[in-house]
Amino acid sequence: MIAAYQARCQSRVDAALDSLFGQEQPQLARLYQAMRYSLFNGGKRVRPLLVYAACEALGGDPDRADGAACAVELIHAYSLVHDDLPAMDDDDLRRGQPTTHKAFDEACAILAGDGLQSLAFEVLADARRNPQNTQLRLTMISTLARAAGPAGMVGGQAIDLGSVGRQLDQNALEIMHRHKTGALIEASVQLGALASERADEHALKSLHSYARAIGLAFQVQDDILDVESDTATLGKTQGKDQAHDKPTYPALLGLDAAKAYALELRDQALHALHPFDSAAEPLRELARYIVERRS
Ligand code: IPE
Ligand code: IPE
Ligand code: MG
Ligand code: MG
Ligand code: MG
Repeated sequence: MIAAYQARCQSRVDAALDSLFGQEQPQLARLYQAMRYSLFNGGKRVRPLLVYAACEALGGDPDRADGAACAVELIHAYSLVHDDLPAMDDDDLRRGQPTTHKAFDEACAILAGDGLQSLAFEVLADARRNPQNTQLRLTMISTLARAAGPAGMVGGQAIDLGSVGRQLDQNALEIMHRHKTGALIEASVQLGALASERADEHALKSLHSYARAIGLAFQVQDDILDVESDTATLGKTQGKDQAHDKPTYPALLGLDAAKAYALELRDQALHALHPFDSAAEPLRELARYIVERRS
C-alpha cells in the first residue's frame, strides 16, 4: 500500500516541482541545471509524502497541498547539497550519483542550494501555487522558515559540525537530531495539516506528537543505515559517520538498542494517531516505513 501511495505522491510532487522550471536565460543555464540535478535525482520524497498524508488525514484536498509539498522538498534538496560540501560532510555520492559539487563545482553547488531555498519560500508565498487564504499562507511561510533556520535544521547542522569527535550524551544527541532532521519533518506534517484548511487545535496537537516521534525516528534510522547498509543500496557512501567520528545513536547506544529505540518512536507516533480514522492510514504506513526502510 505504501509503495503505491508513495508512487502516486512522488509523481504528483515531481510534476509540481517540474512546473517551477521553464525557459531560463542562457547565462543562468548552469545554475538551473545544478538546481534541477539536485532535485530530480531520485529522492524518496518522504517530506512531500508527509505533507499529502497529513492533508488527507484531515480530509483535505491534496491538490491544495502541492505548493507545501514542493516547498519542503526544495528545502530538503538544498540542505543535502550543502550537507555534502567539502566544508561539511565532504561526500561524493548522493542518491547513487555524484554530489552536486562533484557534478558541477563548489561555488555552483552553494548557489544551487541558495536558489532552491529561495524558491521554496517563493512557492509558499504564491497564491496560485499555494492557494490558501493570506493568513494561512503567512503561517505556512513562518512555519517553514523557523523549521529550516537557526532554530531548526540550520541550527542542527551547526550542532552536528560542532560535535565531530565529541561524545554527546543522549539528551544532547536528541537535541541535535530533532533540529537537523526532525524540524523539517515536523514542518512537513504541519504544512500538510494547514493546507487541508481543516486543522483545529486538537488535530494539530496530535499531529505534532506524531511528527516529533517520526522526525527523530527518521534520523535514528539514517544513523542505523549508515552502519549496516551498503553504499549501493543507500546511494550514499556507507560508514561515513564513523569515518568522520560523528555522534550517532548506534555509536552511543549500540546497534540493537538504537533499533529498539526507532521502533519505540514508531509506536509513539502510531499512538498519537489514535484519534484519527482510516484517512490517517498513509500517515501510519509512513511511520512504519520510516523505521523499516533500507535506504
Ligand atoms: C537524508 O534524507 C538526510 C537526512 C535528513 C537524514 P532522505 O533519506 O530523506 O534523503 P532522500 O531525499 O531520500 O535522498
Ligand atoms: C543530514 O544528516 C541532515 C540534513 C539537514 C541534511 P546526515 O549528514 O546524516 O545526512 P546524510 O546521511 O548525509 O544523508
Ligand atoms: Mg550531515
Ligand atoms: Mg551527510
Ligand atoms: Mg546520515
